Amino acid sequence: MTEPAYGWLESIRRDWDARALENPRAYINWSDVPDNDEAFFQSGKVDYDQYVKPFLRRMQFDPGDKSVLEIGCGVGRIARWMSQDFARYVGVDVSPEMIRRASANHLPRATFQTVSGGDLTGIASASMDFVFSFAVFQHVPNRDAIFNYFAETARVLKPGGIFRLHMKGLASASLGRWALEAGLAGEGRPGSGSRVKWPFVRIRKLDTWQGSSVSPSRAIAQCSADGLEVVETAGRWTVMMWIGGKKPQREADGVPRSSARVANTKKAAL
Ligand SMILES: C[S@@+](CC[C@H](N)C(=O)[O-])C[C@H]1O[C@@H](n2cnc3c(N)ncnc32)[C@H](O)[C@@H]1O
Repeated sequence: MTEPAYGWLESIRRDWDARALENPRAYINWSDVPDNDEAFFQSGKVDYDQYVKPFLRRMQFDPGDKSVLEIGCGVGRIARWMSQDFARYVGVDVSPEMIRRASANHLPRATFQTVSGGDLTGIASASMDFVFSFAVFQHVPNRDAIFNYFAETARVLKPGGIFRLHMKGLASASLGRWALEAGLAGEGRPGSGSRVKWPFVRIRKLDTWQGSSVSPSRAIAQCSADGLEVVETAGRWTVMMWIGGKKPQREADGVPRSSARVANTKKAAL
C-alpha cells in the first residue's frame, strides 16, 4: 500500500519525534500523574484495567491465545500490561523515537514498528484478533487519516476479531486549519473528577496536538462503511469517546454498507 498523501504526515512524525526526545512521559500522560517512570507505567495499568479488560469481558474475548495491535503505542505504557495477557502484542507508532524507546523495554511477546501515520502498512491483512487505540486519534489533525485507520482496522482484523478505538467525539466544523467544536465537558478519566456534563463550544487551531473530532454518528457510519460492526459506544459528544465492535465472521453477518446503524448501538460504561 502506498503512503496516503494527507499532507500532515510529515509534521505529525516530526512533532511526535521531538516530543519523544524531549520527554515522552510529559506528552503522553495526564498532568495529574507524577513525572517519573513508576507512576507513568502504573497509569498504563490503570488505563488497561479500566478501558480494555471490561471491554474484553463484555465481548467474551479470552486474550490468552490471541494477538493485539495497538495503534499509537508510544513508549509502551499500556503495552507493558497488555503483552502479559495476550499471546502476541504488536505496537505501531508514527514516531521512530517512540518505537525505539518502546523496543528498549524488551517486553516478552511484544514487537514494535513505525508506521506512516495514516495506515498500517506492514501489518498483514486478517492477522490480528484485537485492534486498540487510546489517546492517539484525538491528536490527528486530518480526519481522513483517522478514517483510513478505521479502514485499516477492518483490513488487519481477522474475521470475528474485535476493536476498541478512542477519539474526540465532538461535533465540529472545520474552517481551514481551524475547527469549531461543540460537546459535553466534565467527562474526564474515571476517578479524575466530576461526572457532571455541561455543554461547551470552542475554537481550536488544528495541529499535531489539537487533532480533529469525529462525531458519534460519523464514526459509526464510517466503521459500518468499512465493514465493521459497532456494538457499543461510550462517552458520546465528549473528548473520551470510545467505539467498540467486531469484524463480522462473514460479510453476510455484517451491517449493510449503505446504511449505518447509528441508533442501534449499545452505550457502554467507559
Ligand atoms: C498521547 S500519546 C499516547 C500513547 C499511548 N497510546 C498511551 O496511551 O500511552 C500519542 C501517541 O500517538 C502517536 N501518534 C500520533 N499521531 C499518530 C498517527 N497519525 N499514527 C500513529 N501514531 C500516532 C504519538 O507518536 C504518540 O506516541
